[in-house]
Order: sequence, then structure tokens, then C-alpha cells
Amino acid sequence: MATSRDDCLTLDQNDPLAEIGTRFMRPSGTADRSRIYMDANSIGAPPRDVLEHLRHTVEEHWGLARRRSWGEAGWLEAASTLGDGIARIVGAASGEIVVADSTTINLFKAIVGGLHLLPQRTKVVSEAANFPTDLYAAQAAIDLKGNKHTLVLAADGRDSDDEICALIDSETAIVVLSLVDYRTSRRRDLAKISGAASAAGALTVWDLSHGAGAVPIDLNSGGADFAVSCTYKYLCGGPGAPAFFFVAARHNDTLDLGLKGWLGHADQFAFELGHRPAAGARRALIGTPAVLSTIGLQAAMAIWADVDVNAAGKKHEALSNLVRDLCDQELAEFGVSVASPRNYAARGGHIALRHRGGNALVEALAKNDVICSFRTPDSIRFGVSPLTTRYVDIWDAIERFRDVVQNETWRDPKFSKLKSI
Ligand SMILES: Cc1ncc(COP(=O)(O)O)c(C=O)c1O
Repeated sequence: MATSRDDCLTLDQNDPLAEIGTRFMRPSGTADRSRIYMDANSIGAPPRDVLEHLRHTVEEHWGLARRRSWGEAGWLEAASTLGDGIARIVGAASGEIVVADSTTINLFKAIVGGLHLLPQRTKVVSEAANFPTDLYAAQAAIDLKGNKHTLVLAADGRDSDDEICALIDSETAIVVLSLVDYRTSRRRDLAKISGAASAAGALTVWDLSHGAGAVPIDLNSGGADFAVSCTYKYLCGGPGAPAFFFVAARHNDTLDLGLKGWLGHADQFAFELGHRPAAGARRALIGTPAVLSTIGLQAAMAIWADVDVNAAGKKHEALSNLVRDLCDQELAEFGVSVASPRNYAARGGHIALRHRGGNALVEALAKNDVICSFRTPDSIRFGVSPLTTRYVDIWDAIERFRDVVQNETWRDPKFSKLKSI
């Protein structure tokens, strides 16, 4: 383990992904006082050339080629070309992922699609600790289908995957889970739970938002049926970037996602009376793509295309373990503990630390130019990105953390008045 700042600098010098990191914007400032971003679980760094991408799209495509850009600039195909780039990162095949809509809308489509595939079954399994939007979408789909289904939730704190598997039976239509808990970062075993669902004849819908672009994910070898995810977190698509939608190719012939639109038609410009679904995940497309909102993701995926995904997984593990170990080494004596699982295989993109200062502490850290986030009741989240976080960033962030807890500056009433999101 790195026990000094110099050790961290050496790790950065030997980092095979160091050049990738330079292709993203970094805060300016002197080395010791620049702002440190530990919020890749919330919003990833902007690609350095994102403004050029944006300018090119506005001036050349929108400004000059105008309507011809739907074809010539690949505007209509972008949902699939971006999806294929993401497929490489999450273990999917070409054609199984599209980029469109928000995560919640994609969840809703996937859940409705799963319920359509198994019309006789009456149970939807999830957990109370799931991200609320996942549960809202599940309940909305159940309501829409006439309230025939029961939403069965594992109680909060049931962290063992066996406890989820025990809820899956022959009545279960779908299992809707987040791969990674948005508070504690506890990571579920996708292959184990998908296997249990499949053995019971049920389907899985995975929300990968706190894992995609951070931890190793293999959707196809894990046997996932559907998956969705934000793209603005570890994938660095930027605020407002559309989400992604995955459906395993084996469901192609029978899939009905409920909501249908012309973009998901097999022959969009035939303008037929009835809806004939497009092949693969493209049937999940509904309406006109949000072209300008995908520019950040396009710039990011151009960088991701050069990333060795295995190396990124290894680096993320090393960074995440470094936060854990430096917490033990530098912060434990001031009452800070690791709230996430200590074992990396059970941990997602961020690592949650616990301290009684809670949100006030996060605000005090922001005042010290360490940007992280708080989730009630007690998760101080450090989101580390394998592409943009440096080992020395972690060292410096933990040192500033130490300063704040040692001197108890977080107790200043001005910090408890602030409510960060
Ligand atoms: C697990 C999870 N799912 C979904 C979302 C957001 O979904 P949407 O893209 O619909 O806003 C978030 C946002 O942070 C999230 O953490």
C-alpha cells in the first residue's frame, strides 16, 4: 500500500492510464491547493475537447449541413454507435445497447418489457435500499399493468445476495436491482442473482449507474436480461447526457416494451400504420434523439475507445483500496470509518466513509476544495474514476479530510446550515 505522498506520485508515474487522464479537464491551480474531485459517482470530468465537439456539431452539422446531418453526421445512428462503445465496457454485444432517454424512463421500459414477457407471473422482487427512482418505476409499471403484481422488497440492510435469491420463486416475473447501493456502495453479485432468477424462470433488470465505467461488469456472461444506467457518472457523458438501455439479444423476437415510437420502428421512414419493432435494443428508441445532449458522451466515448477496460478495472480497485487504507491509516483515530464493504468485489464505484459530522463535514471539505457528496443517514461518498482520479489526489483529499476532522472545523455552524445535494 502507498503510505506516503511520494508513494502515490510514483504510482501515478507508473500508471498505464495516465495519458488517458490528461485528455480530461483538470482543475487549474497549484499542485497543493487545486480542487480535488471525488465525485465521479455523481458527475464525471469533462473531456478536454468537448467544446470542439460541440462547436463542430453546431457550426458544421446544425449550422451548415442542417437536416442532412440526421444521416450524414450520424445523428440517427448515434444511439447505436454510442451504445456499441458502451457495450465493450459492460460486457455486452454490438446491437444490445442504445443510448436514449433517462435512466428512469429506461427502467420503466425494461420493467414493462419484462412483465410482458412473463404475463402469468405476479411477483416483482427488489429491495428497500434500491435507489428510489427504481422503485417508483417498478410500482408505476405494476399500476399500469392493473395491479396484478406484488412488489416484494428485501428489507434495508439485507446485504447478502442469498437473501435476495431466497425471495425469487416460480411466481417471480422480474428482479429489479441496482448493482451498487447509491449510499454504501455495496455491490451485488450480478451473475449469482441473474443465475438464480433464470433458474426460477424469472428475468433481471439491473441499474448499473454506480458501477458502469468504474467496476468490471460482464452483462452477457453474468446472464443479465435488461440493464440501464446513467452515463454522466463514471462514463463522463456530462450533465443531461442520455442514459443507456441494454437488452440481451435472446429477447429480440418477443420483446414489447409498452411504449412505442417512430425511432424504434424497423423502417422509420416507411411511415407505416402499425409499429414494427426494430432489431435489437433499437426497439427501445422512442422519439427524436437529444443530439446536443449527447455531445459530451461522444467526446467521452472517443476517449473510452482507447481505454484498456481491464487496466481500468485494476486501477479502480487500487484507487478504491487506497481510500479504504488511507482512511484506516490517517482518519480512524478521529472517528472516521469505512462504511462500504472492505472487500473490493463487494464494492462499487464509490467508497463511503462514516463520521458523525455527516453533511456538515462534506460542506467543510468543499470549503477545502475536496468535492465529495453526502447521502443520508451517514454516507460520505468518495467517487473515484479509473480514468481521471490520480493516486496523489486521494492522498491530498485524505490529508485535507484529516485536517478538517482533527481541527473539528466542520463544527462551524455555517456548515450545518448548508444542505448539499
Ligand atoms: C442508481 C441510480 N439510478 C438512477 C439515477 C437517475 O436516473 P435518471 O437518469 O432518470 O435521473 C440515479 C441518479 O443519481 C441513480 O443513482
